[in-house]
Amino acid sequence: MKILLVDGTVFGTKTGAILRQIEQYITEYNSDLELEILYFADLKHQILDGSPLNEDMKMMIQKFEEADGYIISTPIYQASIPGVLKNAFDMLDPKAMRYKPVSMVANGGTYQHHLVVENQLRPILDYFRCLVTPNYVYTHASDFDENDNIIDESIHTRLRELAYVFVQYCKLSETLPDNK
Ligand SMILES: Cc1cc2nc3c(=O)[nH]c(=O)nc-3n(C[C@H](O)[C@H](O)[C@H](O)COP(=O)(O)O)c2cc1C
Repeated sequence: MKILLVDGTVFGTKTGAILRQIEQYITEYNSDLELEILYFADLKHQILDGSPLNEDMKMMIQKFEEADGYIISTPIYQASIPGVLKNAFDMLDPKAMRYKPVSMVANGGTYQHHLVVENQLRPILDYFRCLVTPNYVYTHASDFDENDNIIDESIHTRLRELAYVFVQYCKLSETLPDNK
């Protein structure tokens, strides 16, 4: 199975650091999964306005379509997910992620915005009929050291558990209809 780990930030490094940690934990639970991190900061983003799509957007859509599961890592921007992440979802066929496992992680500058994941990101993934794991992880700048290592042990515990549940959801998704 191909798993796409999506780093939704266009500026910083923390959401990517969380993904690399999850990548390690997933591999510990199932080394057969093929993991790839897609950094949005590396892409030339294009707003969905009806114009022909550029090569980066075509490549991004193809990676979403070809993947069998996703870890979505998002920063919080203006009490929501970044525009580039919503824009990416808008570019997908509604069946592109159907019955595929997804886990969500987010990082914010304030603890007060953790429900963005629950109230804004999850409904979008529910619309796509993803298998969204019940657990997600929210981190804050103070959970990292200056090299972006996660220093809060409770975050590691949550990320390990998320990775474990995600791997179980991957098995479940293999029993469901393939919409590719
Ligand atoms: C445009 C912008 C808006 C932001 N708005 C919020 C916000 O509403 N709530 C919050 O908790 N953090 C907010 N932040 C802080 C970012 O969530 C935080 O810097 C980011 O998660 C760091 O992760 P990164 O290093 O991967 O980018 C904002 C940052 C930017 C750049």
